[in-house]
Amino acid sequence: MDRYIVSGGGRLTGEVGISGAKNAAVAILPAVVLSGDICRIENLPNIADVSTSLDILSMLGAQIRRINQNTVEIDPRPICSTMVPHDLARRMRASSYFIGSLLGRFGTARVSMPGGCNFGVRPIDQHLKGFTALGACVSPMEQGMIEVTTDRLVGNSIYLDAVSVGATVNIMLAAVKARGATVIENAAKEPHIVDLANFLNTMGADVRGAGTDVIKIRGVEQLTGAVYSIIPDQIEAGTFMAAAAATGGDVLIRNVIPKHLESITAKLMEMGVEVEEYDDAVRVVRAEPIRHCNVKTMPHPGFPTDMQPQIAILLSLADGTSILTETVWDNRFRYVEELRRMGAQVQVDGKVAVFQGVSRLTAAPIKATDLRAGMAMIIAGLVARGTTEIEDIFHIERGYEDVEKKFSALGANIRRVTLPDNALGGQAV
Ligand code: EPU
Repeated sequence: MDRYIVSGGGRLTGEVGISGAKNAAVAILPAVVLSGDICRIENLPNIADVSTSLDILSMLGAQIRRINQNTVEIDPRPICSTMVPHDLARRMRASSYFIGSLLGRFGTARVSMPGGCNFGVRPIDQHLKGFTALGACVSPMEQGMIEVTTDRLVGNSIYLDAVSVGATVNIMLAAVKARGATVIENAAKEPHIVDLANFLNTMGADVRGAGTDVIKIRGVEQLTGAVYSIIPDQIEAGTFMAAAAATGGDVLIRNVIPKHLESITAKLMEMGVEVEEYDDAVRVVRAEPIRHCNVKTMPHPGFPTDMQPQIAILLSLADGTSILTETVWDNRFRYVEELRRMGAQVQVDGKVAVFQGVSRLTAAPIKATDLRAGMAMIIAGLVARGTTEIEDIFHIERGYEDVEKKFSALGANIRRVTLPDNALGGQAV
């Protein structure tokens, strides 16, 4: 029953600091399984998906010491289990990364099929193709579990049929301790892939080419402990850029890597938003009406699909017709229904949404349909006339740290409330 209550109409102004990257953290924590000693991970975002990753590590037998809200020390040496059960795996997509790391360390893993945001079909065939190419045997089991086992992983060449972040991560995790060389072609190039490679190399792995579409991995016998700080979250930064622009605000977004934001910056500038880049910050100012613009999502370095719902709020308010095309996921427009309730004029046909800009949105009771869409609803609430109530906010808290605190510090009127279960007064729900 937890909700965000957002009163709209104000401009966001001031400074906000960006947390560590969710999608790097959820790859690096499983990678710790491969280490032969204690790892200290810094700049971890304090979000539900990180808690789930730590719960899985703990359940496998790792010893975890929380140093503070954003730093943990993990001793993977006591890990003795190789099974991730359904109740943990279903909470997030990245639970599948434990297949790669358990396989790399023990030659066996049993993991329930992963959960995560619902964007239509989310296969893991490319992950499994990679494990098979490395010499593992994949067997479906009862209750949605899969078992992946091998006597010895042996490096190989793997061409991915889809540019997949998850398959690239999982194959890297399995290959770092395989015998010989692995080459991943048509690999994903996202910043979190590079961050994972840097972490693996800090532990003594030999991974080259991360950030390009060919990654070469030479297997090593042992990995050591490491101290590692996670990169800033590209998508959280982009989200605050979109929120600043949507509200006609003036916000300095600190602790970012501006290079990672280039595709977002380019689109905002096309819409008439000013973006100033500094070494590790960007300032976003909007003083003019939003200009219409076409946006197409692509794998990195294209415009990120994980920024698609947030940019949609700007397109809803732009001065004319804009076309938003999703090329990564089959069904990532489920939030449009909610946006229409707030007065947005949007038509969706398959993977294309056409926005006819309106001069304002109006508050309505709405739902977070998934993580990024939920955050887009907060941005919609910030620009809408009236008070918007957003439910199903557990989606948002999977991936964004201190939402209420960060927006409030920018002058937003946002509250997180917990309503008692009977607050609906017996209505059918
Ligand atoms: N695909 C396949 N076969 C596979 C794997 C993927 O056909 O075996 C297809 C998918 O159906 C999709 C495309 O390849 O059409 C890309 O999927 P990818 O594997 O790259 O997605 P993912 O690893 O499941 C990660 C992020 C998502 C983000 C996508 C795309 C994590 C934990 N998740 O998902 O992030 O949307 O890459 O960039 O890194 C989010 O953070 O909100 C989020 C959903």
